[in-house]
Amino acid sequence: MHFTNSFTAALALAGSALASPTDKRATVGLSKAMRQRGRSFIGTALTLRGDAQELAIVENKADFNSITPENAQKWDATEPQRGVFTFDDSDRYVDFATEHGIQIHCHNLVWHSQLPNWVTAGNFDNETLIEIMHDHIKALAGRYKGRCTRWDVVNEALEEDGSYRKSVWYNTIGEAFLPLAFKFASQVDPKAQLYYNDYNLEYNGAKTDAAQRIVKLIQSQGVKINGVGFQAHLTSEPTTSSGGGVTPSQNTLATALRKMTSQDVDVVYTEIDVRMNTPATRKKLNMQSKAYQRIAASCLAVERCVGMTIWGISDKYSWIPGVFPGEGAANLWDEDFKKKPAYYGFLRGILRGGKNGPA
Ligand code: G3I
Repeated sequence: MHFTNSFTAALALAGSALASPTDKRATVGLSKAMRQRGRSFIGTALTLRGDAQELAIVENKADFNSITPENAQKWDATEPQRGVFTFDDSDRYVDFATEHGIQIHCHNLVWHSQLPNWVTAGNFDNETLIEIMHDHIKALAGRYKGRCTRWDVVNEALEEDGSYRKSVWYNTIGEAFLPLAFKFASQVDPKAQLYYNDYNLEYNGAKTDAAQRIVKLIQSQGVKINGVGFQAHLTSEPTTSSGGGVTPSQNTLATALRKMTSQDVDVVYTEIDVRMNTPATRKKLNMQSKAYQRIAASCLAVERCVGMTIWGISDKYSWIPGVFPGEGAANLWDEDFKKKPAYYGFLRGILRGGKNGPA
């Protein structure tokens, strides 16, 4: 076989029967391939826990040029008591990104979860809760001004039927909490790209339409929003937690992405993992590989899909088995840090997606 360059070689190998999970030649690298296709980044969620094997994978720039702190910037970690800010852990991630010269997707400013009791049970009135939100954004986004590539400004504000989640934010402030949060974030860190981030937007249903409405709402107030994050916590086969759903077709995924880009914002897959009923089998791993390929290909089919982040490296540390017992094996590396077929499916989707119809 003759290849004119490593990119062509990788494309051929990733698509051929030769591209077995142990074939080292097939590794052009995820982020390298993504950037060669004119997009911005491939990232991973990161928890710095001193695992050298995990770290070596994260630090391979051919695969990753962005990180998302998995938990360190959440409210319970950064403002456990009103006005008491704890940034030591969060600082480690921002410093990690700076030292490695990679992007950082900062996560997150306003969310209903991992929110300390002093916020949820404080019975604050509208004015006070807005002040609390403003103070938090000023402190957290202000500390990293100019260093966060993107910020998830508001996380998961929607129910499955497209109505607003009855969080303390919505119950107290109403839908105005969304444009307010984006306004505060844009004032504090004008250079960061500001995102609305949610899960189950990938099915192109009521929740997808509702996310589009959020974009319009924020824009209608003359406030900046740069993008929508599709979390993509998906499944490769029906599971109890998926209610029978599986990773949609490439076309459905791309249609959902385009619903946002038609509003003049970018899109990103922010937290990709594709779980299954465990234990994994060869057949299930191949199905999972195809699901990862569809996700990547849908991004490449949409011009304003600027990047994708996977939610962690190895199955060893995934959040899934703890939350959905009997499900897991959702990542690109297995528990022994070996690349799974899904790695190669994802790479194939990046290399081929959007070129000749569905990849
Ligand atoms: O740090 C404490 C530790 O001190 C304690 O001993 C231990 C006992 O349970 O808990 C530890 O905190 C856990 C934390 O992860 C760090 O490991 C929390 O209990 C646990 O709830 C938390 O889970 C995180 C989850 O968000 C919380 O909602 C997952 O790691 C994280 O992957 C997950 O990520 C979310 C995104 O932020 C938003 N979208 C959905 C996604 C998956 O749920």
